[in-house]
Amino acid sequence: MNPSDTDRTNLSRRLFLGTGAALAAASVSGGAFAAQAAAPVNAAATPAPGMNRKRRLGPLEVSPMGLGCMSGSAFFYPLPGKARMISVIRHARDRGVTLFDTAELYGPFTNEELVGEAIQPFRKDIVLASKFGFAYEDNQSTGADSRPSTIRRAVEGSLRRLRTDYIDLLYQHRVDPKVPIEDVAGTVRDLIGEGKVRAFGMSEPGLETLRRAHAVQPVAAVQNEYSILERGPERGALAVCRELGIGLVPWAPLARGFTTGRFGIGTRFLPGDYRGGLPRMFPDAMPANLLVIALLERWGAAKQATPAQISLAWLLAQGADIVPIPGSTDPWHMLENLGGAEVDFTPEELARFRGELEAIPIVGPRGSPQSMAQNGVEAPPKRSTEP
Ligand SMILES: NC(=O)c1ccc[n+]([C@@H]2O[C@H](COP(=O)([O-])OP(=O)(O)OC[C@H]3O[C@@H](n4cnc5c(N)ncnc54)[C@H](OP(=O)(O)O)[C@@H]3O)[C@@H](O)[C@H]2O)c1
Repeated sequence: MNPSDTDRTNLSRRLFLGTGAALAAASVSGGAFAAQAAAPVNAAATPAPGMNRKRRLGPLEVSPMGLGCMSGSAFFYPLPGKARMISVIRHARDRGVTLFDTAELYGPFTNEELVGEAIQPFRKDIVLASKFGFAYEDNQSTGADSRPSTIRRAVEGSLRRLRTDYIDLLYQHRVDPKVPIEDVAGTVRDLIGEGKVRAFGMSEPGLETLRRAHAVQPVAAVQNEYSILERGPERGALAVCRELGIGLVPWAPLARGFTTGRFGIGTRFLPGDYRGGLPRMFPDAMPANLLVIALLERWGAAKQATPAQISLAWLLAQGADIVPIPGSTDPWHMLENLGGAEVDFTPEELARFRGELEAIPIVGPRGSPQSMAQNGVEAPPKRSTEP
């Protein structure tokens, strides 16, 4: 089924009135938008309607959706330029986004610098998330490193680059197979005691390791890849999080842009773009995986929403403990995405959607063999002789 002309008109209206009007009123073009980066934050801006439906990650109250800031500085090309990304971050805040996600690894280091500059005018009003967990040489990551001394060094660097004296949500980016998780969680617990960190998170942990960490320092959020295309957390992580009262923050909630419908059979990525190495985006996997886009378009036509909005609405509908962090370097995309929080599903619709989705086989693993090896890692046991 294709959207009717009426559906298209309504959808345009929804995008313009629900999200785009604030920008349109400011006569925004790409260049003018970037030039606004240095302008003061717009105190009169109103939150997008869905952003008032607050959610919780442990002790932290957040907007139902955050903003992933990674591609402002790394992995997806072309990069947007600093002024434009700062502007996107500030407009996201104006429209009610209160959770901003970065990491030492993104750049490395440069994304934290950019985010630190962007959030300066409203630092105390938002929840700032960053991540540690790697060693670096010559600005290149050399692998997992979560030794307590490395965590402390990383946090001091993050605080400096983020221009703040506390990080609201500090994640271990990947489990270090050489360091007992009790040492990691104990170090974060100490940092919380010192006021440098407010809450502890983990990304893609092994589930036994998650339980052990949580016993030392309660984990507020697990950040795992979760989207229409990648439903891995439904095979264990989500259940453990719910048992322990931990929130789930889906990273790549748009499957790195795939579930927005922007890629097709002929898509090729620029050299160095991370997505060129993702098997699900290989040319031979595209035809099968694009059936998901057809599904999103059908539901979008019925609900007067875009594929990106349906993707995010579906994640939000999986539970009040889920807070997606779609990444965007584009003001229009960012605003479109916030509209996903206004789209609701009835239980009957959710069941029907799932039936249709599960009938589509997804072709290819979610990442390269190298990246997959870092997911679900269990930390070594802490020996009783260790202090
Ligand atoms: N914990 C981890 O290991 C981990 C790993 C990866 C990412 N993350 C975090 O998760 C965040 C989100 O993940 P992600 O950025 O990798 O993937 P994502 O959010 O699934 O997708 C981002 C991509 O989608 C595009 N996009 C967004 N909204 C769009 C729209 N409405 N229409 C068309 N295209 C749209 C963006 O392009 P435009 O810029 O053009 O909008 C970008 O290319 C990151 O920023 C990062 O903070 C964490």
